[in-house]
Amino acid sequence: MESIKVGLLGLGVVGGGTWKVLARNAGEISRRAGRSIEITRVAVRDLAKARAMLGSAVDVGTDPFAVVRDPSIDIVVELIGGDTLARDLVLEAIAQGKHVVTANKALLAKHGTEIFAAASAKGVMVAFEAAVAGGIPIIKAMREGLTANRIEWVAGIINGTTNFILSEMRSRGLPFATVLAEAQKLGYAEADPTFDIEGVDAAHKLTLLASLAFGIPVQFDKAHIEGISQLASEDIKLAERLGYRIKLLGITKRRSNGIELRVHPALVPSSSLLANVEGAMNAVLVRGDAVGQTLYYGKGAGEEPTASAVVADIVDVTRLHTADPEHRVPHLAFQPDAMADTPI
Ligand code: NDP
Ligand code: HSE
Repeated sequence: MESIKVGLLGLGVVGGGTWKVLARNAGEISRRAGRSIEITRVAVRDLAKARAMLGSAVDVGTDPFAVVRDPSIDIVVELIGGDTLARDLVLEAIAQGKHVVTANKALLAKHGTEIFAAASAKGVMVAFEAAVAGGIPIIKAMREGLTANRIEWVAGIINGTTNFILSEMRSRGLPFATVLAEAQKLGYAEADPTFDIEGVDAAHKLTLLASLAFGIPVQFDKAHIEGISQLASEDIKLAERLGYRIKLLGITKRRSNGIELRVHPALVPSSSLLANVEGAMNAVLVRGDAVGQTLYYGKGAGEEPTASAVVADIVDVTRLHTADPEHRVPHLAFQPDAMADTPI
């Protein structure tokens, strides 16, 4: 069977990781996908940057629309970030009849309803496992493993940068700015790190989780958001003396009068499970009426953990693209229920 052709938009932290993982595990990945997967075109901003890993077989350019409009491309992988150019590219890819894989939670939190509606109308898939909790397959777990449940609440640590900052400030006594710079160097932080430290990135992810959990439209503007920028080392030390750790939590809960959606720092007892999620790790707790409480834990940011989720989506889309087109959209497209509770 002919290989599936991927156009990669962005070759930064996540794009670079995606390239590496696909190249390193090509044999296993192709076997699992049922056909080989080939990145044939890449778009970047700056051609002068060294891209030694690419070799000469790949077409590298600076026009992402040329990739999106290339008739030979089956899947567009959007790893540029932001919500303006990325929106135009994703909508254009859909209009061109291409499936999309993205790690871009900012884009989906803002334009998800429009994007998923466009994908549904066109019969293509938009997959976004990497957009929430890095390498943890939480989207798959919620969409598939927990599908029998009425979800009661979802709560957890869903931003690696802030968890890394809080952990390092506590355990090594380092100042906020020093640890933030380290998180940026390690590739955890967003291009604009205020998204991380002000809780916006966590709220983007929480919005997507709430949509999946409760079948509500994506409603980022309804979230209560408070970050960690106002926390001082003293707060962290004081919390520790009292038997707590400070964690930036995202919480969404079903209430009788709507859906609660909030991100804020919280005092968590030091002996609890969430208190011991350290560094750039994420942990998501989900409570369903049938299954009870479940926990998902793993690396929440960084090159290869995020690439792991991107590649998993590429494989999923490849399998479904290859299968009966009549049945492929519901697997990955986001489908809000008719119910539309208003978050409080
Ligand atoms: P980077 O800044 O490392 O990479 C962005 C890439 O996009 C770069 O290769 C850049 O090119 C390219 N790019 C930017 N603008 C353009 C343009 N106009 N035309 C063509 N290419 C362009 O970002 P990340 O890899 O960290 O993040 C990418 C996405 O993944 C974001 O949506 C982010 O939120 C998400 N994400 C990131 C995670 C992480 O841990 N970093 C985890 C989960 C999701 P050039 O290389 O030339 O500068
Ligand atoms: N900046 C994000 C974080 C990347 O730190 O969690 C992963 O989504």
